Amino acid sequence: MFLDDFIRMCYDGFLQGWHERNGGNLSYRMTDEDVKVVESQFCKNSRHYDMPFSVPELAGSYFTVTGSGKYMRNVPLAPEKNIGIIRIDSKGSGYDILWGLEDGAKPTSEIPTHLMNHLERMKATDGACRVIYHAHPANITALTYTIEPDARTYSRILWQSETECAVVFPEGVGVVDWMVPGSIDIGVETAKLISSYRAVIWAFHGIFGSGNDFDETFGLIHTIEKAAEIYLKAKSAGIVRTITDDELRLLADAFGVQLNKDFI
Ligand code: 13P
Ligand code: ZN
Repeated sequence: MFLDDFIRMCYDGFLQGWHERNGGNLSYRMTDEDVKVVESQFCKNSRHYDMPFSVPELAGSYFTVTGSGKYMRNVPLAPEKNIGIIRIDSKGSGYDILWGLEDGAKPTSEIPTHLMNHLERMKATDGACRVIYHAHPANITALTYTIEPDARTYSRILWQSETECAVVFPEGVGVVDWMVPGSIDIGVETAKLISSYRAVIWAFHGIFGSGNDFDETFGLIHTIEKAAEIYLKAKSAGIVRTITDDELRLLADAFGVQLNKDFI
């Protein structure tokens, strides 16, 4: 059941150390079948909230989302208090809370970035992408203090830091320089990049990742975080050699992926 997978991913991220306190959030765009499975649990008196932005293309869509200020660590203990199901209203400028987020809780403060990213990834994947995930992994965030916020630089460093990175994210990663979190502006800037990159790093903050399912999305962030860790370890020990461009090309040929031509 999608809710079990959603809850498991929240806790898996906590176990990785990516969700200190209320850090990070997760959203899942539900299928019609998912809705059928849970709709008998929807509350009769749903709460409606307006949003200070609109996503008309998502009108009527259902999302499972983590709550603002809620701890990923607590999600398996009390899902109904820490996560919820919302339906975007007919104008796309508000939502109804249909289940969960009990005691007056609201969806994550990063709802602008989540919904704008869903829209872009939905378009980019013909509707296949369903998961948007925000985490605060320490090595990715540390990396943002050591290099300029440039997608080519980040992508090359990450590809060179572990052989399979170029296979997992051949398009590279996007980067948004520091901005106020939870804002509409950071949502707009992230969404501009997420149509080309499945993962976008936020300088001095963390990362947003997307995928067709929970495993793929979690795996993408896990891979990027591990590569960042390897890079920082290698850099502090002293880098004397790395994977060459020719080797990256050989890898791409062997695995049948197309590396971002602007980066190699
Ligand atoms: P929320 O608790 O509102 O989800 O915010 C956490 C976070 O990581 C903000 O960037
Ligand atoms: Zn955050």
